[in-house]
Amino acid sequence: MQVINQALAGQKSYYQLRAKEYDQWWYRQGRYDRGSNANAIWFEEAHQVKIALSQFSLEGHILELAPGTGIWTETLTEKAISITAVDASPEMISINQAKVRSAKVQYLVADLFEWEPAQSYDAVFFSFWLSHVPRERLDTFLHKVNACLRPGGKLFFLDGLRQETSTANDHQLPLEDSQIMSRKLNDGQSFSIIKVFYSADELQKAFEAAGLLIMIHQTPTYFYYGLGLKPESISQ
Ligand SMILES: C[S@@+](CC[C@H](N)C(=O)[O-])C[C@H]1O[C@@H](n2cnc3c(N)ncnc32)[C@H](O)[C@@H]1O
Repeated sequence: MQVINQALAGQKSYYQLRAKEYDQWWYRQGRYDRGSNANAIWFEEAHQVKIALSQFSLEGHILELAPGTGIWTETLTEKAISITAVDASPEMISINQAKVRSAKVQYLVADLFEWEPAQSYDAVFFSFWLSHVPRERLDTFLHKVNACLRPGGKLFFLDGLRQETSTANDHQLPLEDSQIMSRKLNDGQSFSIIKVFYSADELQKAFEAAGLLIMIHQTPTYFYYGLGLKPESISQ
């Protein structure tokens, strides 16, 4: 447990320091450039996920967990009335704010394992966050997602399949039975963080146990994503 807690603390520091170089990963630059073929597949599959998100139509008051630099916050503003964006890193939030520049977005700096929602939302979104939630905390986290949603509220999440070229060329994926991954910054500093490659089957069961309906899809190489719903309560 101590190893997990240390990795949870390590990943907060890692993302604070990585904030200014973070987008290189999504845009396949520097150490994340895996050659034109792999990059083209990445961008094509990211586009497929964007279409799926657009068709699922998250609207109203949206909660975005761990928004980072705003790669998805910007997209979410198109249909939102408001967005509450909660991230532990002030550095990530200030980049997000400068990029998105929308009065619809309210930012909160908080640790998602401690933060409790003050209201319920029409929709919850999280991208590349679930894989940073250790198995020991998955049930508690998903019950929190349930508590964040109004009955009938929607959720959408996105994360990465176990694929070597999804990460930097000097990173190694964790062993199959490990949830700890070593990550480096551009300057070579290294950190131990949580990285879990959940199977669709275990996620399906965990979302259901938390009272959420979920349909999990995957793109051919890089991504998996979930379309979810908090059922309306059944009136007697
Ligand atoms: C992989 S990034 C995902 C960012 C964004 N959602 C995306 O898809 O590009 C993970 C994010 O989680 C945040 N984070 C890490 N630990 C956290 C914690 N305990 N509570 C809240 N946010 C955390 C980091 O600051 C970072 O912005």
